[in-house]
Amino acid sequence: MGRAYIGGMAESRFDGWTAAHYARLWPELFEPSLVEATTDFLAGLAGGGAALEFGVGTGRIAIPLSRRRIPVYGIELSAAMIRELRAQPGSDAVTVSLGDFATTTVDGSFSLVYLLRNTITNLTTREEQAQAFRNAAGHLGAGGRFVIENYVPVPAESPRLFADTGQHRGVEVYDVGKQIAVSHHTWILDGEVHTYASAHRYVGTAELDDMARAAGMSLRERWADWQRGPFTDTSPAHISVWQARVDLSRPGTAEND
Ligand SMILES: C[S@@+](CC[C@H](N)C(=O)[O-])C[C@H]1O[C@@H](n2cnc3c(N)ncnc32)[C@H](O)[C@@H]1O
Repeated sequence: MGRAYIGGMAESRFDGWTAAHYARLWPELFEPSLVEATTDFLAGLAGGGAALEFGVGTGRIAIPLSRRRIPVYGIELSAAMIRELRAQPGSDAVTVSLGDFATTTVDGSFSLVYLLRNTITNLTTREEQAQAFRNAAGHLGAGGRFVIENYVPVPAESPRLFADTGQHRGVEVYDVGKQIAVSHHTWILDGEVHTYASAHRYVGTAELDDMARAAGMSLRERWADWQRGPFTDTSPAHISVWQARVDLSRPGTAEND
């Protein structure tokens, strides 16, 4: 699920129905062991500092992270997702701004900015994705970390069936020339059929590293999962951690640059 592919104007596809059913549509995201491992990982990187989630959604991770005494902020494009977040106990601790995480800014300096569940691909041009890296870097204090959780794209035969349960059928169609995958979803929930399509700009680790470097950050860690399992050639997904320059007054002083 992402935003509409309308050539640069941000518009979230996370409408009222999707927001209200988010936890039922993707129950695997709410597995307590996954939520705990994600929260542990992010809390460790935040240290005592503040954290900012791009595409904070219903607060699946932001709320448990805020319970670790970390000030948590979020940027979210969908008013419906923010309404769902506000219905969750403990959401008062999360400060949310309505806007596009490629361009929206939040006051303050953060030790951690993070972007979960392939949400970078909701930005459908390279320039917008690069803008999100610059926006993340602009929010980080010296040595702060930017984390992205994303799948490793394998442009396959098109169309590709990626979900086929009684409740959910998902078919992805690739436009390799434009580096776009359009996901077509059909959900059957409570006897009702819901269909929608969302466009994603799939992006690999090398290109993400380029965008990070251009934004003044360098790669510090790359893992296959939140338990820090090794990332290999066959890993289907990655968790990448880039670090902002240690001395923000001197361009090009990122460690490892
Ligand atoms: C897959 S959901 C993930 C939600 C939450 N981060 C989580 O892990 O449960 C993606 C979220 O990002 C939001 N989103 C997508 N594109 C966005 C953009 N350009 N700016 C802000 N939010 C965006 C969607 O509205 C949605 O709430």
